Formats: sequence, C-alpha cells, structure tokens
Amino acid sequence: MSHLISIRDLTREEAITILDTAEQMAATQNRGIKKLPTLQGKTVVNLFFEDSTRTRISFETAAKRLSADVINFQARGSSVSKGESLKDTALTLQAMGADAVVVRHSSSGAAHRLAHAGWMNLPVLNAGDGTHQHPTQALLDAMTLRRHYATEGGTPHAGTGLDGARVVIVGDILHSRVARSNVDLLTMLGARVTLVAPPTLLPIGVEAWECETSYDFDDAIASRPDAVMMLRVQRERMSGAGGGFFPSPGAYHFEYGLTPERFARLDPHAVVMHPGPMNRGLEICAEAADSDQSVIVEQVGNGVCIRMAALYLLLASEGQRND
Ligand code: CP
Repeated sequence: MSHLISIRDLTREEAITILDTAEQMAATQNRGIKKLPTLQGKTVVNLFFEDSTRTRISFETAAKRLSADVINFQARGSSVSKGESLKDTALTLQAMGADAVVVRHSSSGAAHRLAHAGWMNLPVLNAGDGTHQHPTQALLDAMTLRRHYATEGGTPHAGTGLDGARVVIVGDILHSRVARSNVDLLTMLGARVTLVAPPTLLPIGVEAWECETSYDFDDAIASRPDAVMMLRVQRERMSGAGGGFFPSPGAYHFEYGLTPERFARLDPHAVVMHPGPMNRGLEICAEAADSDQSVIVEQVGNGVCIRMAALYLLLASEGQRND
C-alpha cells in the first residue's frame, strides 16, 4: 500500500491489517501519555478544499499523536482563491518538505490525480473526493461495527471480518462517498448491505453494486438489521431545499428519516450510525442520535485510531515498503 485512495485498492488482508493496527493504536490511547514517537521528524499536510470538522481534526490529532508535524492548508484564504491549480499546490507542498498529503476535494478523482499524476512522490490519503470515496470513514465505520459484532469477550480479535452482519444504509446514496466506500468495505469483510433511498437518490447503475436496494425503510427495519447507518442529506450538492430530489424536508423525514417510531422498532441490539455532520430532524431524530444504541460518538473516536493506523502503515514503514 503506497497511498490510501479507494477501498477498491485494498485487499481484504490489507483492510484487516489497517483495522487490527487501529486496535493496537486504540490500546495506546488509554494511557496517560497518548503520544507515540513513531513519526517524529515527518510532516503531514492536511489539504482541504472542502469543509470538514471530523476528518480534518482527526487526521491532525492522529498525526500529532504519532509525533508528526502537521500543516493545515485550507483552500479558502490560500492562493487557490487566486486561481492556483491542484498541480502547483502539490509542487509547492513537495518543495516545502511534506512527507504525506491528506486531501479532501469536491472533485471525484482529485486524490487519485494527486497520487498518480507524477507531480509529487508522496503518500496520498484520500479524506473524501466528490461523490467517489471516503476510505478512512468506511474503515472507522467497520472498526465500530467490528467492536460490536466480531468480538470475543468484548475484544475484537486480530484477523476477523464482519461475517454475517446485516447493515442498512439509508438516505442520500446518490451523493454519498461514504455509502460507496462502505458498500465496498463492508461486503469485502463479509457483511450484507442493503441501501434504502427514494429512487431519485439512488445512482444509476446501483444494481451492479454488491448489495441489495430498497425504497422502503419500514421493510428494511422489519428485516431486523444489526446496524442502521443514516446518511446526511447533502443539500449543498442539490439546488434548493430538496433540489427536486424529494417533495419537502417533512416528506423526506416521514418516508426516510429515522423517526422516533422507526427507532422504537429497531432490535435492542441494533446500533445507530451516522458519519456526521447530522441534520437532526431531517434524516435522524434526536431520540435515536442520543440513545444508548447510538455509536455516533464512538465512530468519531475510532476515526483517530484508523487515521493513526493509516499514517503509520504508509509512513513509519516507508523504508521497508517495496511497492
Ligand atoms: N464524516 C465526515 O467526513 O465528516 P466531516 O465532513 O466533518 O469531516
């Protein structure tokens, strides 16, 4: 592994290595001193062309916990607003001595271009590109699920996947890099995934994905899933309130929201997930988001460990890599 661009670039063994390494990182985070010396002297650049709270802060935290120096680059306020290209930004970062680049961009394929265009020779970690992929989000979601379903005595044991776990992913699949990454990863790990959305929010060609699809959230709940992952309605990628994708926010909530009534029908063992940021009252009600079955805060915490694992695997063993 020389970059982390897409779940599709990973083998099952590589994905499980990242998850197992993240568990080892998690074990170090209960100590009084959380910092490890592993990436001392390395510089990680966070290159964010789109807004982010969780991903940017957790990549920064992860790099700092591994003792790397971190440079945060926000497109807003940089020379990108004067027209500087992705290529010239990349050349500038390489010239300044960066050792790895974490990139979020609104264009699908931007992370791949940065990694493979030959502009720079650094590991690239995709922090979300357009509607394409968000690999560390899927990995932190898998870590969270594995902690609930692939455990023995409460501890995930090395090498396990998610065999047999049933996961329902609900909402704005069309615009969701989280859904795409999760379908790829969760099915690779042995889970069964069902996507639930109105027909307008399912992408063309979804029938070729390795999952089931449904327009009926109540049916999906009746199938007694182990986890329900609610997706954010990405209104910034639609024009207007619903952009013609649904009649009104109220109608969307009624048909596709995790309402108090639907939440009450979930099995007590089922966990409620959301990648954040949440639109409370639209795709998810407060009762579900704040319940004991919610693992939304756990997902954020696991994100730091997954990103520590990814940075460690890409940077700490750089000299030993042969790919
Ligand atoms: N889940 C996620 O990517 O959140 P942010 O946009 O806050 O990074």
